[in-house]
Amino acid sequence: MTVDPFVSLENVEVHFEKEQGLVEGLFNDPDRVKAVDDVSLEIPENDVVALVGESGCGKTTLGKAAIGVQRPTGGSVRYRGQDIWAAKDGMGEIPYERIRKSLQIIHQDPGGSLNPNRTVMKSLTTPLSRWQPDMDSEDRRARVLRMLERVGMKPPGDYASRYPHQLSGGEQQRVALVRALLMNPDLILADEAVSALDVSLRVETMDLLLELQEEFGTSFLFISHDLSNARYLAENAGGRLGVMYLGELVEIGPAEEVLQNPKHPYTKVLRWATADVDPDGWEAQEPPVRGIDIPDPVNPPSGCRFHPRCPEAREICTGETPALSDESAASRDHCAKCFRDDPNHEYWSSEPLEGTEATHLETH
Ligand SMILES: Nc1ncnc2c1ncn2[C@@H]1O[C@H](COP(=O)(O)OP(=O)(O)OP(=O)(O)O)[C@@H](O)[C@H]1O
Ligand code: SF4
Ligand SMILES: [Mg+2]
Repeated sequence: MTVDPFVSLENVEVHFEKEQGLVEGLFNDPDRVKAVDDVSLEIPENDVVALVGESGCGKTTLGKAAIGVQRPTGGSVRYRGQDIWAAKDGMGEIPYERIRKSLQIIHQDPGGSLNPNRTVMKSLTTPLSRWQPDMDSEDRRARVLRMLERVGMKPPGDYASRYPHQLSGGEQQRVALVRALLMNPDLILADEAVSALDVSLRVETMDLLLELQEEFGTSFLFISHDLSNARYLAENAGGRLGVMYLGELVEIGPAEEVLQNPKHPYTKVLRWATADVDPDGWEAQEPPVRGIDIPDPVNPPSGCRFHPRCPEAREICTGETPALSDESAASRDHCAKCFRDDPNHEYWSSEPLEGTEATHLETH
């Protein structure tokens, strides 16, 4: 099924130049951290996509590219068909400022993103007066109070007069959520939005996100290194779950399908490591992974980036790179960046690598 996107990422690449010392810089080309590589993804209206993957795999960088705050070094990011960076350079039909207003972010550390010298009311009315200068100041205040009440901060007048240090982490997170929602955005990037909260508050906050998502019809790109959180949100919203590994989107599909029938060997590792996702399946066995080498985003492995750790790797995986088809980005189909997803691929006649499950079975 193909859906109408309003944010489209096409073959997005974000590479950072690593800082070098003065002498080093004179003699060598700078190393490039390949934070995101060749990611295509479409986010339609009123949709939820949860991205999961280990620390440093490029989730935040990809999320920021999707909302137009990180300029990609390759590929394109479009908002309602308009290239966001062309708009930023003054060459678009939709002004960049309007795009930025439509694509909001809630940071991992809400305290850090709130001005410590401003009351909650001031923090929330300032962006409103910038975006809706015609709105009467009493109406602005009334709207802020209504939203604070809506997210459970009661009495709202009391919370509105407080400074960030007078709020708990969960309350700061709610203020950040209200600030994003007041812009009537199309998409909110929630980057590790619940990771810093304790477990009971985490579920409560995710439930609130789900309610507001439905009420306002806002799409969410939810990022987490924790599969349990990503699953909770994506499954309850009937959304998609995307798995990232070393800068690449390696699997995506409806959350339940990805979890019940993972196609990529890395997704199986994540599942194995998350007891509440798979309580009695993988837990008792050895981890479904070879080696524990930490991959280097400056020099990622050749071919399939997961091949040094993949228990299913074959010769062909060391030299050829699997791809997610272009149609996958535009659909809700379940697909994986792995040769095993294609029953006719020459992978199946290629030699298993030393130490993989196939050679293991042969020698026992
Ligand atoms: N501004 C930058 N300059 C150089 N390298 C960067 C920059 N931002 C991120 N990186 C590198 O890019 C890679 C991806 O970083 P990113 O923050 O996107 O990962 P992440 O998946 O969000 O990790 P985490 O779960 O720890 O938040 C990392 O190797 C990181 O060190
Ligand atoms: S392409 Fe090969 S190495 Fe990569 S995940 Fe699939 S089987 Fe493993
Ligand atoms: Mg991050």
